[in-house]
Amino acid sequence: MSRQTQAIIHADAVLHNFKQLAALAPNSKSMAVVKADAYGHGAINVARILQHVSSRFAVAIIEEAIALRDAGISAPIVVLEGAHQAKECQMASQHNCILVVHCEEQLQWLLACPEGKRPHIWLKVDSGMHRLGFAPSEIASVVSRYQALITDETVVATHFACADDVDNGFTEKQRQAFMHHVAPLNLPLSLANSPATVNNALTRGAWNRLGLGVYGGQVSTGDIGSLELRAAMTLRASIIAVRDIPAGEGVGYGQTWVADKPSRIATVGIGYADGYPRHCANGTPVMVRGQRASLVGRVSMDMITIDVTHINNVALGDMVELWGEHISIGDVARCAGTIDYELMTRVSQRVPRIVKYL
Ligand SMILES: Cc1ncc(COP(=O)(O)O)c(C=O)c1O
Repeated sequence: MSRQTQAIIHADAVLHNFKQLAALAPNSKSMAVVKADAYGHGAINVARILQHVSSRFAVAIIEEAIALRDAGISAPIVVLEGAHQAKECQMASQHNCILVVHCEEQLQWLLACPEGKRPHIWLKVDSGMHRLGFAPSEIASVVSRYQALITDETVVATHFACADDVDNGFTEKQRQAFMHHVAPLNLPLSLANSPATVNNALTRGAWNRLGLGVYGGQVSTGDIGSLELRAAMTLRASIIAVRDIPAGEGVGYGQTWVADKPSRIATVGIGYADGYPRHCANGTPVMVRGQRASLVGRVSMDMITIDVTHINNVALGDMVELWGEHISIGDVARCAGTIDYELMTRVSQRVPRIVKYL
């Protein structure tokens, strides 16, 4: 039998989360962000699950869009980083993709595209994140100089730096900087990612771009009220060895955990090569036989060790949840000094994604 290390993708949770987030913003249209292989959940899986409710998808780069086309996904796809090279403009039009344009060079590439082979575009404004986009004060001039590129699909977009943090006033500052210059243009707007959609109703525009929340990640540092987001991925692996060790014995590389009493240690078939973070500290929670247990010792490339002294009858083949319904991926991320986005996207190709439909 093959190794029982799997990422179960819960189709019902993906659909439920998308619908919940979209329902928060009935005056907006919502698109699922499926870049980075849908945050590790499988872009084709997620696009198929959402194709009847998400009338657009968003990816980072055109290769991701083409992979969706090859799989038969037909909805227009917004390419959030736009073209990296001039030739991508024609490719975008050929594949029914909308390019986000964030700089003058990209505008020139588009102008050089033969008319009829130009893709639709969105315009990106840098409202304060200082990563991509035109300065707010420049956008009116861009729109007037490049009227030839503006179509009925054109949207003016921005992105927030701190939208998950409900105590951070920077989101409102960004929103105001954006609106001040963009509102007079009378073009449709897209501001909100999933944290902003949840935390700040004023950011909901013509289109909201929903990523993390669709996958059940932690979209807010505050109370999300009646909104209920479910884990879209359960990462699990089986126990491949169990041993008893006396007090005073260390476990794993570097012996970073030493038993203070006689202990039962289970070895689980997942490691950092599968995307379980090496930086998870001793005490990171896992679930086995319906009970919480703790990671002890360093994460190895292919295995971890957990303390199951307090759990009866632990045996070879028992499944261990690393994150999912019972173990919050956000909690695991904190134990590893990172965020849930990184954990989701780092589950490696060695781990089969198994889509579970209810
Ligand atoms: C430009 C842009 N829009 C939307 C999103 C989706 O954000 P989130 O996953 O926080 O909902 C991202 C994700 O990084 C992004 O880069």
